[in-house]
Amino acid sequence: MELSNQVALITGAARGIGKAIAVKLYQEGAHIVLNDIVSEAEINQTLQEIKNSTNEVMGIRADITQLAEVERMIQEVVSKWGKINILVNNAGIIRDSLLIRMKEEDWDEVIKVNLKGAFNCSKTVAKYMMKQKTGGKIVNIASVIGLVGNIGQANYAASKAGIIGLTKSVAKELALRNINVNAVAPGFIETEMTKKLPEKIRQGLQQQIPLKRLGTVEDVAQVVCFLVSPAADYITGQVIKVDGGMVM
Ligand SMILES: NC(=O)c1ccc[n+]([C@@H]2O[C@H](COP(=O)([O-])OP(=O)(O)OC[C@H]3O[C@@H](n4cnc5c(N)ncnc54)[C@H](O)[C@@H]3O)[C@@H](O)[C@H]2O)c1
Repeated sequence: MELSNQVALITGAARGIGKAIAVKLYQEGAHIVLNDIVSEAEINQTLQEIKNSTNEVMGIRADITQLAEVERMIQEVVSKWGKINILVNNAGIIRDSLLIRMKEEDWDEVIKVNLKGAFNCSKTVAKYMMKQKTGGKIVNIASVIGLVGNIGQANYAASKAGIIGLTKSVAKELALRNINVNAVAPGFIETEMTKKLPEKIRQGLQQQIPLKRLGTVEDVAQVVCFLVSPAADYITGQVIKVDGGMVM
């Protein structure tokens, strides 16, 4: 398996896209560290669903917006395995409303989780990756909304555009250390959030997508898996859209 003996940390992985990424990397042989801010019981439930082989899983409840919590989390990972090879910055939130109605705290919270959280984790993990001298892989989950914007999502679009800038800058900074940094920009993906959409809106969305369907969490996880594998050793600083051709 391509990821045997690799240690991979995935943020916001108790459910949705993050969970699918954890499942996929686990199936490819990686040891998985599943981070989320939800309860430990919920994290353990997801771990139980994932673990079915000899490679290990570990759950760490931490708020990625708090640098001290992120440092404690990475320290815990390195104490257990002596290394960290892969980071997937997946945790993200939405607090949608039109610009003139958007509350200051909704702006701050989205930027804090989606952008500062990725900064905190990348900064802390990069230090260990540099010390290890074995290179590493970082993948940031952006969104096509960060590329094209969306009505009612000024905060979210800004955070995801920020993630793309962060990806490219960190890719340039860490390239000499053999650390590849890329972003994946999903389009509309079938998750709890999109399942609740009224049928009419759903059909309208599908019409805008050349492949005529919403994406699955596995569609995203497979691309992340490729980017953290040796097959992508010569790819860095890229933004790969997983959107059925919606934005081109
Ligand atoms: N679902 C989509 O259609 C879609 C499209 C484009 C991009 N994305 C991006 O993909 C990522 C995952 O989205 P999803 O649909 O699976 O969302 P989700 O809400 O199902 O999962 C996000 C997870 O992040 C966790 N989280 C939130 N704040 C956190 C914090 N401070 N610290 C640690 N964990 C925290 C949540 O508890 C949750 O488990 C997000 O970054 C999202 O912006 C999703």
